[in-house]
Amino acid sequence: MRIPVVAANWKMFKTTHEALAYVRELGSLVKGFSGVEIVVAPPFTALLTAAEAARNTPIGIAAQNMSAEKEGAFTGEVSATMIKDAGATYVILGHSERRKLFGETDELVNRKVHAALAAELVPIVCVGETLEERDAGRTLEVLDRQVRDGLAGLSAEQVAGLIIAYEPVWAIGTGRNATPEQADEAHRHIRTRLREWFGEAAADGCRIQYGGSVKPDNIGALIALPDVDGALVGGASLQVNSFFDIIRGALAR
Ligand code: PGA
Repeated sequence: MRIPVVAANWKMFKTTHEALAYVRELGSLVKGFSGVEIVVAPPFTALLTAAEAARNTPIGIAAQNMSAEKEGAFTGEVSATMIKDAGATYVILGHSERRKLFGETDELVNRKVHAALAAELVPIVCVGETLEERDAGRTLEVLDRQVRDGLAGLSAEQVAGLIIAYEPVWAIGTGRNATPEQADEAHRHIRTRLREWFGEAAADGCRIQYGGSVKPDNIGALIALPDVDGALVGGASLQVNSFFDIIRGALAR
């Protein structure tokens, strides 16, 4: 049985002080929680503060991005080792905003996945089609390419331990979440491909989160789907109470 994983992607929001207050409050709300993995992804500047506040709580910390390089003359970049050192144990990779606004390719995402695993970080690999691709009937083909190229060269064991976030681009920040039927189709498809490409154990172990306008009032219908193993939450994760309601919703699994 896969434990659902619910992650807060804060994007470019929150100072260190705001991060501290949030993680302290969430930490007291989720004290003793089990049966759901809780992750908070602050900006780089608040990673250490958030990780220290999360100590002795069930909250894990993620970075939102990472360099594929180990170290060197890469002004403005942050390495896997640095993220790990700041207290993160997860890293979000290939978010659609990174792909669209910063030109990240499947090949680069793949290099980042390998670098994250080498540093013993759990990658949260984001995939998802644009509205144009969905309207053209190309959703599953796009997912195939992103999953195949993004996970290229990984062992079955590595795939079993990572997290994929299916985030239809048209559902991100739009208030328009995928219907349970649409999410079900995409998640099932990804799981089938994982089985074909990496085997039974990899497909069974890998958690597939849904992301894109997840709110307290739609988490229930999404988490009820057999191949939806949690959520990656943007806007609705910025307030502690609504993120907490989503965590509770995921516990209903
Ligand atoms: P949203 O963002 O919940 O605001 O749609 C999700 C994401 O980008 O991960």
